[in-house]
Amino acid sequence: MAEPDEPVLEVRDLAKLYPLTQGVVVKRRIGAVRAVDTVSFALRRGETLGIVGESGCGKSTVAKLLVSLERPTAGTIHYRGEDITRLSGRALRAVRRNIQMVFQDPYTSLNPRMTVGDIIGEPFEIHPEAAPKGDRRRAVQELLEVVGLSPEHLNRYPHQFSGGQRQRIGIARGLALRPEVIVADEPVSALDVSVQAQVVNLMERLQDEFGLAYVFIAHDLSVVRHIADRVAVMYLGRFAETGTGPEIYDHPTHPYTQALLSAVPVPDPVARTRRTRILLPGDVPSPANPPSGCRFRTRCWKAQERCATETPVLAVPTDLAGPAAHASACHFAEERTEVRA
Ligand SMILES: Nc1ncnc2c1ncn2[C@@H]1O[C@H](COP(=O)(O)OP(=O)(O)OP(=O)(O)O)[C@@H](O)[C@H]1O
Ligand code: SF4
Ligand SMILES: [Mg+2]
Repeated sequence: MAEPDEPVLEVRDLAKLYPLTQGVVVKRRIGAVRAVDTVSFALRRGETLGIVGESGCGKSTVAKLLVSLERPTAGTIHYRGEDITRLSGRALRAVRRNIQMVFQDPYTSLNPRMTVGDIIGEPFEIHPEAAPKGDRRRAVQELLEVVGLSPEHLNRYPHQFSGGQRQRIGIARGLALRPEVIVADEPVSALDVSVQAQVVNLMERLQDEFGLAYVFIAHDLSVVRHIADRVAVMYLGRFAETGTGPEIYDHPTHPYTQALLSAVPVPDPVARTRRTRILLPGDVPSPANPPSGCRFRTRCWKAQERCATETPVLAVPTDLAGPAAHASACHFAEERTEVRA
């Protein structure tokens, strides 16, 4: 049985490799894409972990592993003390109810031929114990109200809603089974900036109301700033730096975080002049053939010989103190404040 302060989710050394094959009829395995490679974190009740990184760094793969849409190649995911990567059948279904996903694109993730009522009520078909048949219509109407939509919209179709409203429908569906954890994979990335804040505010309100824990994925550090209690910056399948919001935004120590932060737009013109923009050379290397040692070294301005031979571990650097002393996977981690947004 889980202790009260035990994490809801605990992820240890999670890895997902996709086989790389060649040939149409006879497929030969020629390598592997290391989409996620030794990722570890814990998530407590009511807490939000923001995961941020560029396209292809493995964010969606982490999300799919957490909700059991994919099986890990290695590592464990404990939900309330139980390793869910070993479960199958009824036991897995029971756990899945508690960990739900909200998808990125509200335009493609809702079936256009289903009414909103059927979309939101769909989880009850898989988990009939969550709402008896006679109560389902009322349950769906309640969920519509909870996310700020009219309960009368039950019989409408997704195309009759705006992008922001559709994402509210996606969130209502995610809430239907009263999960403890919601994994939101770029839930606002497809929305206009003005609508993004409304959806983030709604998610914050629902978190307080239902004691939800969130894994909130974004490719931009600014999106998770207000909602995340802790932030993990991801690069090529690994976490480069993790810490609380103030540690990451005000005291970043990993060069990759510093570069990402320096690219976040700053509205205040005075603050903008004090800031240094770091432009990274080259592209992100292929996860099928990641650089040896530190994966960031091919784009890092601080890289030295040691970076090619020794993989930096995600740990608190012993020579740093105060808010700079948080986990950073860099041999030469040091604070740099002129990149702050
Ligand atoms: N089913 C798959 N088969 C092979 N490779 C895959 C598969 N799914 C993902 N990948 C690869 O794994 C890596 C990580 O992909 P993932 O979708 O997790 O990235 P992401 O961070 O979510 O990117 P984005 O910001 O574009 O959504 C990419 O190189 C991708 O091409
Ligand atoms: S370990 Fe080396 S290459 Fe990697 S981020 Fe630190 S300085 Fe750069
Ligand atoms: Mg993705």
